[in-house]
Amino acid sequence: PQDIYINLVLSYTDLAPDGYTRKVWTANGQYPGPLIHCNRGDRLIINVTNNFEDPTTIHWHGIFQLGSNWYDGVGGQTQCAIPPGVSFIYNYTVGDQVGTYWWHSHYLAQYVDGIRGPLIINNPDDPYLGQYDYEYVLTLEDWYHAESHNLVAMRMTQGYEAFNPIPDSGLISGRGQYDCSRARNGTKCDPNNMPAIYTVTKGKKYRFRIINMSAEAFYFFSIDQHKLKVIEVDGVDIKAIELDVLPIHIGQRFSVIVEASQDSGNYWIRANIPIDCLMFGKYTINNNSAIFNNNNITGILQYDDASNDTLPKSVDWNRNLLPCHDLDINLIKPYVDVSPPLKVTDQINITVDIGEPDEKGTAKAYINGQSWVPDLKNPSIMKIMDQNISAKEFPLNANAYMYDNEGGAVEIVMYNTNQADHPFHLHGHNFFIIGMGRDGIPDSSKYNLKDPPMRDTVTLPPNGWVVIRYMINNPGVWAFHCHIEWHVEMGMVFQLIEMQSKLQTLKMPPSVKALCQPGSQHTKRLA
Ligand code: C2O
Ligand code: CU
Repeated sequence: PQDIYINLVLSYTDLAPDGYTRKVWTANGQYPGPLIHCNRGDRLIINVTNNFEDPTTIHWHGIFQLGSNWYDGVGGQTQCAIPPGVSFIYNYTVGDQVGTYWWHSHYLAQYVDGIRGPLIINNPDDPYLGQYDYEYVLTLEDWYHAESHNLVAMRMTQGYEAFNPIPDSGLISGRGQYDCSRARNGTKCDPNNMPAIYTVTKGKKYRFRIINMSAEAFYFFSIDQHKLKVIEVDGVDIKAIELDVLPIHIGQRFSVIVEASQDSGNYWIRANIPIDCLMFGKYTINNNSAIFNNNNITGILQYDDASNDTLPKSVDWNRNLLPCHDLDINLIKPYVDVSPPLKVTDQINITVDIGEPDEKGTAKAYINGQSWVPDLKNPSIMKIMDQNISAKEFPLNANAYMYDNEGGAVEIVMYNTNQADHPFHLHGHNFFIIGMGRDGIPDSSKYNLKDPPMRDTVTLPPNGWVVIRYMINNPGVWAFHCHIEWHVEMGMVFQLIEMQSKLQTLKMPPSVKALCQPGSQHTKRLA
């Protein structure tokens, strides 16, 4: 294992990912942010310099942070934010984890403004190593022209569906095409922005690591006339399955092997945002929005001999038969057999809902009737580790659930009482999905306790339910939240306080504590 040093310098940069120029919140001036690449077991030492005018934090989505909860990067939960003009070092090992992850700001809705990028952990013993020749990373992002704080403030104005601001366009690996005729006068817009192009050689095989880094959008991913052989789901190798179309919700990742099986030419890479999946209930949407006129986000798979001047042939693309759901849990079989915990020590029941808008037009999201409000100045970890406050004493709107049985197992039974789907992501763990239903209530006699899938992000179906289990082995304050960023802002977040008594015996690095004490030497920019 090695120590890997990385600098992320955060600043505002004018960029035009979809042709339309806006102020993008970038790391190292790039969008998407730089790829962080390491090997299994490595230590990542990441110096984040905040040159924004706002505080920030960075989260490493899917990384367990075993014994290093304070580097999980969640504002209001695991750290005080990094103030403007200050550098802060995240320093953690990736342990035994391998596969496809990403990183993003976890402070308010900042990641939507651009602070996000891929994180790949190479596995020297990957069971699929001999089965592909090259590797590509491909990210999916919905994209907005307004900044996220304005979008949050305007949430309920016309053109928003069920409290979610509607994106202006979609990007594949940071590139998309905006219809510039919609751009306001005086704004800079290039109607001929290049799409993402992935080049291939006939007969070779390519591993694509696909990451959905969106704020709002679920996608159907496909490549015309090419099969997708799925081999990894959220960092877990699986027994290969062959698909034509891959459903991917926010926070989820897949690796697929694509064989360049055609002779030549260009082929569309498609990330289709299924508009019908976004429409529900009594909420109306404004279908003048650009995304409704072009919800088929495209990139190009290009064979060596093909030129940029010829567009791919158009083929009929129709997903009418596909439901707006996660990849079927019965299809995902971990490559190495692992059994879920059979005995549960702590069961948590959770009901998720979105309330009615108040007279100002603002709505809240609820978990068991409580809407999360972050305590940004005094995050949960400080209360527990520094001020010796038990999670039992947390206010109701902290949405804190605690369990202390080291070596035991948690079962979370989730119910959705509204008509939207919610991609829930758990920090600090991945979990077994032992049951899921689109109606009715969980029937424990039907749980899969033999070979359930493991992931870290699962979509709670509209009016449906999901049951997950995981072992209690990682002391910390772990977020569990819907990854639709607009729902986070409405309070659809809770905190799992795991092994609080053990957490209190750990030593929090002084640099983390210092972030909560403005004026100390740590709040100066590092040289
Ligand atoms: Cu992608 Cu709470 O994270
Ligand atoms: Cu949600």
